[in-house]
Amino acid sequence: MGAVTSTFIAGVELFKKGLGLPIGSLTQMQTMRLGKRYENRNPLIRDFVPLAELKDLVFGGWDLFSDSMWEASLKAGVLERWQIEPVRSALEAIKPMRAVSDSAYVRNLKGNHIKKGKNKWELAQQVMEDIREFKKKSGADRLVMLWCGSTEVLPERSEVHESLAAFEQGLKNDDPDIPPSMIYAYAAIKSGVPYGNGAPNLSADIPALVELSEVTGAPICGKDFKTGQTLMKTTLAPMLRARMLALRGWYSTNILGNRDGEVLDDPGSFRTKEKSKVSVLDSILDSKLYPELYGKYYHKVRIDYYPPRGDAKEGWDNIDIAGWLGMPMQIKINFLCRDSILAAPIVLDLVLFLDLAKRAGLKGIQEWLSFYFKSPQCREDLKPEHDLFIQHLKLKNTLRLLMGEEVLDHSGLDYYDPEKGLVPSAPPPRPAKKTKKQRAPSSVA
Ligand SMILES: NC(=O)c1ccc[n+]([C@@H]2O[C@H](COP(=O)([O-])OP(=O)(O)OC[C@H]3O[C@@H](n4cnc5c(N)ncnc54)[C@H](O)[C@@H]3O)[C@@H](O)[C@H]2O)c1
Repeated sequence: MGAVTSTFIAGVELFKKGLGLPIGSLTQMQTMRLGKRYENRNPLIRDFVPLAELKDLVFGGWDLFSDSMWEASLKAGVLERWQIEPVRSALEAIKPMRAVSDSAYVRNLKGNHIKKGKNKWELAQQVMEDIREFKKKSGADRLVMLWCGSTEVLPERSEVHESLAAFEQGLKNDDPDIPPSMIYAYAAIKSGVPYGNGAPNLSADIPALVELSEVTGAPICGKDFKTGQTLMKTTLAPMLRARMLALRGWYSTNILGNRDGEVLDDPGSFRTKEKSKVSVLDSILDSKLYPELYGKYYHKVRIDYYPPRGDAKEGWDNIDIAGWLGMPMQIKINFLCRDSILAAPIVLDLVLFLDLAKRAGLKGIQEWLSFYFKSPQCREDLKPEHDLFIQHLKLKNTLRLLMGEEVLDHSGLDYYDPEKGLVPSAPPPRPAKKTKKQRAPSSVA
């Protein structure tokens, strides 16, 4: 019931009334090309794939504070009171269920709306009961759960995470390596409910819960919504790599003053976030393939809690790059973004796509939703794909595949020579090697 959730829900309730535009949402605003360019088939994604309609969405949630969604929205301060006034009664009606909470994992919040249970197993059963009760009361046919709770301290990966049997035993033994977000994730997946993770918490990104998701058929995805600075990074870094420009250093700093900022002021929670933010560049630039360009760059990420700014975050990036003959150049970015305004459309798309995935029979990790995440969850033996443009292509091609449309490779050769099409003919011949004597004298081009 924090800033992201309340901004998302207030938005959907406003759209239901025909107020405002869902800017930033692919499912609501983006079109996609089908077939050849001259066919001019560009339907809206929501017309092309069978998604749930906004008017049918209903919401519930958990929090360690008992504020209704209306109060939570006002406290979050993302949207102005006058903006959400038209949906006041809908927001007031959403009251949080009691949270599973553990102060060892989120140290800077002291809530009092908390579940009690003999052990973590019992708490998981209570969350499953909440899920059943919500479904019954709301009349929803299908459910999706998204973690939009605070960033937890990262637990050590241990035995208890490695298999479903060990995890369930761990719940019964109150294992300290099971944080609250894993308990919610377990409860959702066990109930067959798709689960997405908007924070950098490990949550469902452990073998035990991947195993469970394959058994129950619940699609899962995560981690950490890709919004402000990382969105910029994963847009710019692919450009540097595509143009073979070298990177010497990337210094990023942020100030933010919302509750998320307060939680991230704790070094434990910050380390979880830092890990998620730092891994992005290494993965896109690949220093092993390009040691001269990306072997030695310096990357620093800072987040400072600065209350006067509230949710209106400011990020600065100083990027030192080098070009032809190693000549240095700089790029500066000053992004005055609104975190929850960028996150809300992501939440909407994930809800609709996870629901679609479940109906399409896709189970386990949904790598095609990497587009929305800073640390995309993927099979453990694979490198995650961070490049925003590849992620975008992956998402759209997955939708084409699901709907039985041709997957686009964008080579475009067949427009000019239908014979060549997608089937490679013989590769072009290599230039003949010349002996020293045959070589032309060197010249200046
Ligand atoms: N805003 C963004 O752009 C953005 C981007 C990426 C990731 N995230 C992540 O999304 C999450 C939500 O962000 P936010 O800005 O809404 O934060 P927020 O602090 O406003 O909201 C988080 C809410 O979670 C509640 N909470 C904490 N632990 C809980 C638990 N165990 N059970 C139930 N509720 C619990 C808190 O009380 C709070 O109301 C954070 O983890 C943040 O790091 C946000």
